[in-house]
Amino acid sequence: MASTERAYLSGFGNEFTSEAVAGALPRDQNTPQKPPLGLYIEELNGTAFTAPRGISRSMWTYRIRPSAMHKPFRPRDARLIRSGPFNEVPPTPNQLRWKAIPIPSEPTDFIDGVVTIGGNGDPAAQSGAAIHVYAANISMRDRFFYNADGEWLIVPQAGTLALHTEFGHLDAEPGHVVLMPRGVKFRVELPDGTARGFICENYGQHLRLPDLGPIGTFGLANARDFEAPVAAFEDREGDFRLIAKYGGGIWEAEIDHSPLDIVAWRGNYLPFRYNLYKFQCINTVTFDHPDPSIYCVLASPTSVPGTSNMEFGCFPPRWTVAEHTFRPPPFHRNVASEFLGLIAGKYIGKGDDFGPGSASLHNCMSGHGPDAEAYERGRTAELKPQYLDDTLVFLFETQLPIRPTRFALETDLLERDYYTHWQGLKKNFGLVGTGR
Ligand SMILES: [Fe+2]
Repeated sequence: MASTERAYLSGFGNEFTSEAVAGALPRDQNTPQKPPLGLYIEELNGTAFTAPRGISRSMWTYRIRPSAMHKPFRPRDARLIRSGPFNEVPPTPNQLRWKAIPIPSEPTDFIDGVVTIGGNGDPAAQSGAAIHVYAANISMRDRFFYNADGEWLIVPQAGTLALHTEFGHLDAEPGHVVLMPRGVKFRVELPDGTARGFICENYGQHLRLPDLGPIGTFGLANARDFEAPVAAFEDREGDFRLIAKYGGGIWEAEIDHSPLDIVAWRGNYLPFRYNLYKFQCINTVTFDHPDPSIYCVLASPTSVPGTSNMEFGCFPPRWTVAEHTFRPPPFHRNVASEFLGLIAGKYIGKGDDFGPGSASLHNCMSGHGPDAEAYERGRTAELKPQYLDDTLVFLFETQLPIRPTRFALETDLLERDYYTHWQGLKKNFGLVGTGR
């Protein structure tokens, strides 16, 4: 990508600079009396001022107009976007699964195409997460959006997203993920005409690379592979709209210019993209399954050691070599809740009817695992080294149970016969030969 440069997520003194016009960035201080080129100075803070240096996120921006310049926000129809607390309908312990959301028949841009499937916590408490899908068929040109409730981890499944952000451009195709920080304004164009995918809205602490423990200095998602944009700005005036997600609601304000008018920036509060095909899997070369945490790409920590508000995991193409081991994911019940989606190919734990764009939700302590067909396949497979080349799966895992929205439970996309996938499991137990 000509429009991106590599940047790093964390580390001592992590500060990046970019200017779209030479000389736009003050060299020796952040707030000179007269900024270069007649620009305004604006600071954007994504963490507490006194956050430890390694996790601090902030930005000095030099822009054409400050962010305060817009008409008053008014509440706007939220359509199918929902926010915590999620209490539209009672939560269910049932296993849930949905088919891919169709591309709309009416003109629908990226923001209007967001549909909430469920979530937990509350943005007002900066704790919890929401899970959305999106399906869109028109570009945003004169509408801009920011989310004050949380950061968005965007997972395209079909169609490229051309993201025009305050800090520059990012193109994200299926296989990429994009993290859009809380508060950063952007609009989305659809170069392919349509787009579909998933979003995890993280109300908690910033997603960051997990510590690696005994793995050592590199592995899983490597810092070098996270790409940030370079500065790019729009100097446009017109009858535009600024959409905000704030306090769980959707708000709209008139604005007479593009708010994507930052000419230069310095700091580290950046959107970035990451290519899931670059994930370096660490896995067994002897027997048995590591826990799925070994597939963690990013995690939003809580104050409880080792417990994340949410984690994002991915299962890319990889070798599977475990000996005398049932290789599909075994049956399990977890305190964590798992929303799993298929970006491309197949998932080793599901049959062929689980297609790209489909997703499942297995909540806290709900039993799940391979369906009857996948179980028999796993039990009888010849255990040669196998390359799983036709797969790309992601996981949004949350500490708190995921409470579905009314839409999620009433839509025809919900597979109401999902429970039958386990009804065909045979009873294999027998006492013959045990000596009893
Ligand atoms: Fe699971």
